[in-house]
Amino acid sequence: MSENKKEIVLSGIRSTGNLHIGNYFGALKKFVAIQDDYDCNFFIADLHALTTNPSPEDLHKNVKTILAEYLAAGLDPEKSTIFIQSDVPEIAEMYLLLNMHVGIGELMRTTSFKDKARKCLGISTTDESDEDIEKQIIGTDTNKRVNAGLLTYPTLMAVDILIQKATKVPVGKDQLQHLELTRRFARRFNSFYGVDLFPEPTDFDWGCAPIKVPGLDGSGKMGKSEGNCIYLADDPKVLRKKVMRAVTDEGPQAPNSAMSEPIANLFCLLELASTPETVAQFRQAYADCSIRYGDLKKQLAEDLLAITVPIRERINDILADDDYLRKVVSRGAERARERAAATLAEVRQVMGIRKF
Ligand code: TRP
Repeated sequence: MSENKKEIVLSGIRSTGNLHIGNYFGALKKFVAIQDDYDCNFFIADLHALTTNPSPEDLHKNVKTILAEYLAAGLDPEKSTIFIQSDVPEIAEMYLLLNMHVGIGELMRTTSFKDKARKCLGISTTDESDEDIEKQIIGTDTNKRVNAGLLTYPTLMAVDILIQKATKVPVGKDQLQHLELTRRFARRFNSFYGVDLFPEPTDFDWGCAPIKVPGLDGSGKMGKSEGNCIYLADDPKVLRKKVMRAVTDEGPQAPNSAMSEPIANLFCLLELASTPETVAQFRQAYADCSIRYGDLKKQLAEDLLAITVPIRERINDILADDDYLRKVVSRGAERARERAAATLAEVRQVMGIRKF
């Protein structure tokens, strides 16, 4: 396939802290693997991160951290376009334009918006009805406001995708609704103006079930806000300690008994990090009740370290090399802007924003 015929893949990550091994196994590792076969575009969504009003220092620090971690994990600026969202001002302009075709109602009904609005308002449960939430959003004082950026988050994400005319967008389950909205906005724009400007993007089909990366606290998946994460940048001592403290149970009480969730989760992590032989050996030990969770955890920690230690070393090297980082992002911005500017020019033309 010639260079410009490759399908355009695009994915972004919000810059809100370090990458954990859930991000690594669930996304990054897979991104690294497709760099030769697709026109890959990976970016840091710092404008999206602004929706939660981080301090300027935190915002900048987090962008730099994620960038270094992307690169350390194997994203290759020679193969992929790696850029920072705010380096592409065309995105901001098209966000304004696309918003003219997006309904407040459809944005307010988005699950992620309702969740985030609840968080802003300090409502933790889901027992409050949507109407109650809407009333609170409209009625709240300015301190507890739900900002407009949060509402229009899906517009911005749609623009990220549409401005690059990406067709394959690898995202997690929690982002599928945003992708659906992107498709709807693309169709709506095309049909309103009678053009065929935007292709409709779909989720990237990896050809296998999504990888589940559980946390260390016994239930649920690994997540930044859950406090149950192993970070790529964790010091080996910290990593060992976290794994050794992972929640377990009192051990199998009878041969071939079913696993409780905390134990199934540890096996899940073992499957990701260890060899099939190691996994089989511990499964056997569980089945015949000879398993010692301490041994399982020690093995898991060492096998995870075999993956994270080299990445961690590269993270630290890259973080110390501002020149390199600068080069990567300026080159990425240049490439991303080229396509973005071309799309934006088409959009302006189509909408009637024309030169005299
Ligand atoms: N909303 C995504 C998330 O929270 C990040 C993101 C922003 C994104 N723009 C995107 C992902 C475009 C894919 C494509 O994870």
